[in-house]
Amino acid sequence: MEFYLLLLILLSLFILHSTSSNLHQTPFTFCLQAKIGPLASILYVPSDPSYIPILQEYIKNSRFNTTTTPKPKFIVAPHTTPHVQAIIVCAKANNLQIKIRSGGHDYEGVSYTSIEPNFIILDMINFRNISVDVGSRIAYAQAGAQIGELYYSIWKASKVLGFPGGVCPTLGIGGHISGGGYGAMLRKFGLSVDNVVDAELVDVDGRLLNRTSMGEDLFWAIRGGGGGSFGVILSYTVKLVDVPEIVTIFRIEKILEENATDLVNHWQYVDPIIDNRLFIRLLVQPIIRKPYGKTIRASFVALFLGNAQELLGVTNDEFPELGLKKTDIREMSWIESVLYWANFDNKTKPEILLNRHSDTVGFGKRKSDYFQTPVPKTGLDSIFKKMMSLGKVGFVWNPYGGVMSQIPASATPFPHRAGFLWKMQYSINWKDGGAESEKDYLNQIRSLYDFMAPYASNSPRSTFLNYRDLDIGINHNGANSYAEGKVYGEKYFLGNFDRLVKIKTVVDPQNFFRNEQSIPIFKSG
Ligand SMILES: Cc1cc2nc3c(=O)[nH]c(=O)nc-3n(C[C@H](O)[C@H](O)[C@H](O)COP(=O)(O)OP(=O)(O)OC[C@H]3O[C@@H](n4cnc5c(N)ncnc54)[C@H](O)[C@@H]3O)c2cc1C
Ligand SMILES: *[C@@H]1O[C@H](CO)[C@@H](O)[C@H](O)[C@H]1NC(C)=O
Ligand SMILES: *[C@@H]1O[C@H](CO)[C@@H](O)[C@H](O)[C@H]1NC(C)=O
Ligand SMILES: *[C@@H]1O[C@H](CO)[C@@H](O)[C@H](O)[C@H]1NC(C)=O
Ligand SMILES: *[C@@H]1O[C@H](CO)[C@@H](O)[C@H](O)[C@H]1NC(C)=O
Ligand SMILES: *[C@@H]1O[C@H](CO)[C@@H](O)[C@H](O)[C@H]1NC(C)=O
Repeated sequence: MEFYLLLLILLSLFILHSTSSNLHQTPFTFCLQAKIGPLASILYVPSDPSYIPILQEYIKNSRFNTTTTPKPKFIVAPHTTPHVQAIIVCAKANNLQIKIRSGGHDYEGVSYTSIEPNFIILDMINFRNISVDVGSRIAYAQAGAQIGELYYSIWKASKVLGFPGGVCPTLGIGGHISGGGYGAMLRKFGLSVDNVVDAELVDVDGRLLNRTSMGEDLFWAIRGGGGGSFGVILSYTVKLVDVPEIVTIFRIEKILEENATDLVNHWQYVDPIIDNRLFIRLLVQPIIRKPYGKTIRASFVALFLGNAQELLGVTNDEFPELGLKKTDIREMSWIESVLYWANFDNKTKPEILLNRHSDTVGFGKRKSDYFQTPVPKTGLDSIFKKMMSLGKVGFVWNPYGGVMSQIPASATPFPHRAGFLWKMQYSINWKDGGAESEKDYLNQIRSLYDFMAPYASNSPRSTFLNYRDLDIGINHNGANSYAEGKVYGEKYFLGNFDRLVKIKTVVDPQNFFRNEQSIPIFKSG
């Protein structure tokens, strides 16, 4: 009796001394508190006033920002490695699914919502240290840092070093690099994952591992196999690449009435084999243009790793159809080209990269395809007609070739190397969140995707992991079915899928780290 009284007194004292979070004690929060002490500024429960702001801060698609979007039981934002270790051990002991979020750019919200009811978010918001070592030409970046912050730190340290990562500065290191990571320098330097030399990860048993201690198999898997299947990535260490002091950009736009179709047709044959310092992205969008009415605009947006004169030499020799003139092009520093590609105006200073909310976010959906052969010109005509009838969906073609063709398909989990001429991103954005308009926009993008089937890669139809698309298949059974996993897994990873499954089965045999499209385990039964 006295014992219980004492316990009661202790318990009430404990509650009195606790923050509001602790009024919602659960076995998970008890476990966490026992390991790391007070949870203020680490744990957020739904009744905390700060829960919704923390949740929404890194939601980058308004489709998953509604009152009915499934929300986490808790958000945990660790400050230190021991915090991460404790969170993993306690979440596992209490059967909570963990969703890891770094930059929150997942196109399907996989990092912060779930089809499973009992999930929590592990938010890497406090892990954002970056250091650059010019002498050894490497940079260390924690998972919650943004790619733009990394570019800025590199530029501060050296004007002739850079890193081949994504175009949008607010991408999180953790999700972006683990999913492959590409940008306008990929034909010269490959993907982000081709330039990773070390990583820190907390595994399912709460152990802190680096490249040496995790071994080459797991290190291979986290360079393109996707975040969220193998552990919590704390940091990547990357190799820096040489960028010239002067780079050159251009943007050329043509509509159908200006023979855009001819130029798109030429692009297909030239762009994947042109000088690998030149990356010409093609954006295609249905528009209304007076006096023609509905038409298609093709925009050719380029980065050249060299000066204007060299660029004109390359395009005159290899792509004369483009008709590139001196007045079309502009020289700048590499960091200015980063800002240009991110659509900032030319007065913007590099310090904008330190603004973690420099982007504007709305509703959107993406899909992707790969091309192994050019589309016949009659095919281009019918695609453009289809797009004009749909009205809003556009696409982007990103040329491959260059070193992308030289890196073996098995060097990293990312398999789309030699033989893949370009990647297509289907893109639709909208501003009004009504269910009817969402239905219409999703129909449009899916309809164009279906229409492209005869031209895109097939068996399987390849897809880019970082352009997450739940339409291509999900794992319903707690992400535990090999058969379901194979459907999306082979589209993302081709022949590398089974190696990922083997590694997953060894490092996380209970499938603790899982999501809608994670790597499944081989099951004995
Ligand atoms: C506006 C915009 C522009 C984009 N531009 C490009 C581009 O130029 N190039 C390109 O390659 N991609 C691009 N993407 C896609 C982008 O690379 C992916 O969405 C990427 O996963 C984003 O990483 P994140 O950390 O911001 O996302 P999150 O949503 O935080 O995470 C994405 C996935 O990785 C997992 N994950 C995140 N952090 C960790 C971690 N620390 N440990 C383990 N798993 C983790 C998540 O659980 C989730 O499954 C773009 C996306 C958007 C929205
Ligand atoms: C999410 O909704 C809140 C309002 O609840 C809004 O302030 C915020 O801008 C929204 N974020 C996104 C990405 O839609
Ligand atoms: C970031 O660096 C600072 C300064 O070295 C250090 O005190 C802090 O613990 C680091 N944060 C993380 C999450 O590693
Ligand atoms: C990796 O971890 C091992 C074992 O903990 C340690 O000895 C080694 O110094 C670490 N390597 C690096 C590059 O940090
Ligand atoms: C388009 O091509 C046709 C046929 O080659 C040519 O006559 C016409 O001048 C071109 N139009 C433009 C705007 O370049
Ligand atoms: C900067 O942008 C403005 C507006 O688009 C343009 O008029 C100007 O020529 C640009 N300046 C340079 C140096 O390109």
